[in-house]
Amino acid sequence: MNDILKPRNINNLNLKNSLIMAPCCMYSAQKDGKLTHFHFSHYEARAIGGVGLIIIEATAIEPKGRISDKDLALYNEEQALLHKQLVENCKSYGTKMGIQLAHAGRKSQVENSTPIAPSSIRFNEEYKLPKEITIEEIEKIKKSFVDSAILAKEAGYDLIELHSAHGYLLCEFNSPLTNKRDDIYGGSLENRCRLTVEIAKEIKEATNIALSVRISATEWSKGGWSIEDSIYLSKELEKVGVDVIHVSAGGNQSNPENMPKLEPLYQANYAKQIKENINIPVIAVGLINTYEQCQEVYDKNCADFIAMGRELLRNPNLIQYFLKKENKQDEFQGQYSRAFK
Ligand SMILES: Cc1cc2nc3c(=O)[nH]c(=O)nc-3n(C[C@H](O)[C@H](O)[C@H](O)COP(=O)(O)O)c2cc1C
Repeated sequence: MNDILKPRNINNLNLKNSLIMAPCCMYSAQKDGKLTHFHFSHYEARAIGGVGLIIIEATAIEPKGRISDKDLALYNEEQALLHKQLVENCKSYGTKMGIQLAHAGRKSQVENSTPIAPSSIRFNEEYKLPKEITIEEIEKIKKSFVDSAILAKEAGYDLIELHSAHGYLLCEFNSPLTNKRDDIYGGSLENRCRLTVEIAKEIKEATNIALSVRISATEWSKGGWSIEDSIYLSKELEKVGVDVIHVSAGGNQSNPENMPKLEPLYQANYAKQIKENINIPVIAVGLINTYEQCQEVYDKNCADFIAMGRELLRNPNLIQYFLKKENKQDEFQGQYSRAFK
């Protein structure tokens, strides 16, 4: 039986277990995108709690790329300095550190700013009408992603995650429902995926550290992005050196007509279908909350790693409970040893 608590690698990056903290926006950044005291307490608590890899919440590569005015950002040295400190603190507890680099695209609700998107299509009535991005602006976005990735590497992050899921900029490019362009970034599946693939390739070449890409496996909408498209994209990402695919779903449509029932493991089968078609590891996420559910993901060969969001928000010491359950006293956080019995 595979063991979720055993060390496991993402390429050369060794994690002490297969359990990952999913990126979760905390909307607690300073106005200029800098980390706050809250972020230190929040992430250090999960590091002490024993998570194998923490992926820091969506962090914008430029001011317009923030979802809100309270999002993290990483595009200058001042921001990077705080990340360096956070990474050092968390890593001292044996967790590995990743950061999700993101651009919110048409879902940005930053004040006094017009969002950008592949095509000028609103997410819904509550969102602003985005401006269609030009080829010159696409080139700038690519450079900003790479520059942020370099800052992340310099800050000591072990892994970079490119956010191409949930209806944010790169995901908008992937989908035929939100990308109506007629240049090399629109039209065919290959063209729509081009931006995600190019940025992944350039980040890998510039940093050569572990690279994850988070995708939405489907947008649950007729004529929209599908699991078959995700398999194509994952194969292309593998070819350019991506080390792991993080399989989420949805977020690109305001009211998807084929939304499944939200039950435990509801996205795990997408991870499995992708895993069966590529040779790099896959992360499953989505209502995988208990030790038994994690084990089920493994036993059904759905994924190599498991990311958890809300359960780890509720319970930073979740992995300590798992270790206790499996009688792994040696790996229990030392200072808490008297809580093992
Ligand atoms: C408060 C909150 C913030 C989130 N922020 C992000 C984010 O920054 N980036 C991202 O890719 N997903 C984000 N998500 C989605 C989670 O990473 C995760 O995929 C989702 O919650 C499903 O997993 P869970 O059932 O374990 O929570 C967020 C979810 C929550 C609840």
